[in-house]
Amino acid sequence: MHMQAPYVFFNWKMYLNFAESMILLHEIIGERLDLEKVHLGIFPSTLALTEVEKAVRGSAIAVGAQNVYWTPKGAYTGAVSAHMLKEAGVQYALIGHSESRYVFGESNDDVHKKMEACFDAGITPVLCVGETAEDRAAGKREYRIKKELMKALEGLEIGEKEVVVAYEPLWAIGTGEACDPLEAEEVHRMIKDEMKQYVAHSVPVLYGGSVTAKNVVSYLAQDSIEGVLVGGDSTKPETALSLLQTIIGR
Ligand code: PGA
Repeated sequence: MHMQAPYVFFNWKMYLNFAESMILLHEIIGERLDLEKVHLGIFPSTLALTEVEKAVRGSAIAVGAQNVYWTPKGAYTGAVSAHMLKEAGVQYALIGHSESRYVFGESNDDVHKKMEACFDAGITPVLCVGETAEDRAAGKREYRIKKELMKALEGLEIGEKEVVVAYEPLWAIGTGEACDPLEAEEVHRMIKDEMKQYVAHSVPVLYGGSVTAKNVVSYLAQDSIEGVLVGGDSTKPETALSLLQTIIGR
């Protein structure tokens, strides 16, 4: 069992509109959970981000962005920069999420620039890596993950700055086909080992992909799984609250 409270990051993706985001947030706050026992972070849509931040300011709940742009300001229609998000009170940002990579065509090079921008702005990046089903079938999981880490981090001066990695196998995201916890643990160990090349301090590695209240404890019981990144089940009051209650009550 870990000494530190596990990271529980709720990635609301584009599931919730503004009103739905605020309703769910207030349901979570209203539960008066013992938030000392989790390191809860909420990643709402950009639309709801400033209101969510206002509502949790001064509490134990952190706010994250789902994406950042690297140039601080300028003629970049449609973008919101890491620097602007930092000013809005954002503490974390998801970088290289598979939906950004595979739906929006984000490249490894973009991921690298976004990582650099987060460090520069003072946001903790949550670098998402993971293999596709094809990679896995072809025995290329380790190759894919090491390459994503290298492309994202090589040449960056991270020093003492905080960085989080999320292992999110693509075949497990939104599919209900969660990765076996022991298999995930092995991958997490590999990631931690690989991260020693880039960062001198230890890096928390979270698991993401079809995490539910039913399976969450089996991940958190593993030595190298310091938390979870939850999509679908973080977006409905019943499942989000039952996840938190399960983790806190464990
Ligand atoms: P999921 O998504 O929990 O819906 O599988 C996880 C993620 O994409 O972060």
